[in-house]
Order: sequence, then structure tokens, then C-alpha cells
Amino acid sequence: MEKTEFYRSLLAQVDAIIGSETDVIANMANVSAILFNSLENVNWAGFYRMVDGQLVLGPFQGQVACIRIDVGRGVCGTAVSTGQVQCIIDVHQFPGHIACDAASNSEIVIPVYHRGDVIAVLDIDSTEYGNFDEHDVNGLQAIVERLQQSFN
Ligand code: SME
Repeated sequence: MEKTEFYRSLLAQVDAIIGSETDVIANMANVSAILFNSLENVNWAGFYRMVDGQLVLGPFQGQVACIRIDVGRGVCGTAVSTGQVQCIIDVHQFPGHIACDAASNSEIVIPVYHRGDVIAVLDIDSTEYGNFDEHDVNGLQAIVERLQQSFN
């Protein structure tokens, strides 16, 4: 299936599963399950939440992961400090990349906003180099926007 069509279908699934639910943790849990089970070559999908100025592990699917990440550190912390999506072709070339799972070779991190602040990040790891492109950036941003609407 073409990626644009794939993400349209994925967004419809996310929309249906969130429905009118407003609980952040529940919605993050279901979104991580949908992404982990639908995306190709993905070995980890989940959220880190901002708690007292630090990223703390949230709902996820995959292997156990590091619990706390400082803002500005690793791919996730960089997404928070810049407020920008990080689409990393080769994580081994990313200065300060935090290797939670040695099998990860590429990664995408999308900031989650609430009232203008980054309150979490969506982090997805892949075993393949360059697994994510601009279609994934756009598709995943649309999914994060739907998540944000649930609690904004
Ligand atoms: N690789 C991330 C850390 C989180 S794990 O991938 C789940 C980073 O560099 O921020």
C-alpha cells in the first residue's frame, strides 16, 4: 500500500480508538499499540512524558527502555529542546544518541504539544537504516495532532 493511503487508514484507526476519550495515558497507550503493530521494521514505539522538566518513560510497546532523558540529550531530548520533529536516518551518526536497544538503526521523534508547550514526545525506533521519510513525518504528525485534540 502507498504510504499516504497507509497513513490515512492509520489515522482513521487512531481516530476511532480515541473517540471521545480524554485520558492522556490511555490514548498514548493505544496509539503506541497501533503504531507498533502497523509500521514496518519497528522495534520500539511509545511516548516519553515531560515530568518536572525531564522526559520520563510513558506508554510504549517493545523492549524495556531507559526511564529518564534530560532535555537536550539524545534524539528525544533534542526534539524537546528544539520543538522540532527529529527524523534520523542513521542513529549512530547522531551526537548523543541514547541506545536503549542495540538493534535500532533509525529513529523518528515527534513532539507532542499542549497549550504551546511540549508535554511529551512520540518516539519510534527501527531496525532498518532510513526507515522513515517525509511521508512518515507527515503521517505521524497527523496522528499526534489527533492525540493532542483529545486532551487540548
Ligand atoms: N534513542 C532515544 C532514547 C529512547 S529509546 O530509543 C526508546 C534517544 O536517543 O533519545
